[in-house]
Amino acid sequence: MDYKNILVTKLDNPKGLKVGQVQLNRPDVLNALNIELMGELLDAFTAFDKDPETGCIIITGNAKAFAAGADIKEMASQSAIDMHIRDQFSVWDKIRKIKKPVIAATSGFVLGGGCELSMACDMIVAAECTKFGQPEIKLGIIPGAGGTQRLTRAIGKARAMEMILTGRMYTAREMFEAGLVTRLADDEVFLEEAQALAKEIASMPQMALQMAKDAIMKSFDTTVEGGLEYERKAFYLLFASEDMKEGMNAFVEKRKPEWKHK
Ligand code: CAA
Repeated sequence: MDYKNILVTKLDNPKGLKVGQVQLNRPDVLNALNIELMGELLDAFTAFDKDPETGCIIITGNAKAFAAGADIKEMASQSAIDMHIRDQFSVWDKIRKIKKPVIAATSGFVLGGGCELSMACDMIVAAECTKFGQPEIKLGIIPGAGGTQRLTRAIGKARAMEMILTGRMYTAREMFEAGLVTRLADDEVFLEEAQALAKEIASMPQMALQMAKDAIMKSFDTTVEGGLEYERKAFYLLFASEDMKEGMNAFVEKRKPEWKHK
């Protein structure tokens, strides 16, 4: 499939399934997320999610920007009714439903919708030069693609308040210490580190990976009791998978498992 705003590749992985990689590619506007780009992104993610050869997905930008937010020029002339009818952020609900793990590899500006996109992923590997922020307040709006919810859950109310109410930018190290970022990496190798993490994850059995992601995501929507019940059912269900038998047999027989991803 030919895309205008993203570059899509599949990375070989000698350890297991391949890694699907999406690079945001509107460098002239710091990868501002316009409607067309978000549609392409969803299309590429959905294709990787359905592809039996792919075990994990990476999204990245370029050295200067992961993404500097939703496309302000595209939104500037819209009315509230236009925004309601177009409902451009509804695409984010579908991104949330991707079953395979998604890693954001960030560098440069990660602002507004860009920060929200990184948080919609499951993990963030950030180059030291990454600058995170939710500057919407400076435009007379608020985060609209999950920022008030995901940021608050990730770094807590007090820090999320400061970040969203001031619109300031924060370093990758600050966000690592706050708990938003999974791993900090040197600027020159952040993508390789994200790819190495993705390959490690893609070498795990898919059924268990997807159930684990699903159960962790459930913790955002339910009580501890409901979540524990959900986890236990998912745990029991995995005993129907071929890979559960293979994983345990391999352990007992002291050999490496051969995953079927079934
Ligand atoms: N939308 C559209 N275009 C953008 C953009 C955005 N979010 N961010 C940057 N650009 C464009 C600039 O207009 C500029 O284009 P021109 O060359 O045609 O003028 C180009 O990218 C380069 O940007 P700058 O010249 O501004 O680069 P800089 O290095 O001087 O500044 C910056 C970088 C501080 C990130 C600055 O570009 C900036 O503040 N961008 C806007 C950040 C922002 O407010 N994001 C939130 C958007 S709203 C949102 O995301 C809502 C939501 O919740 C989903």
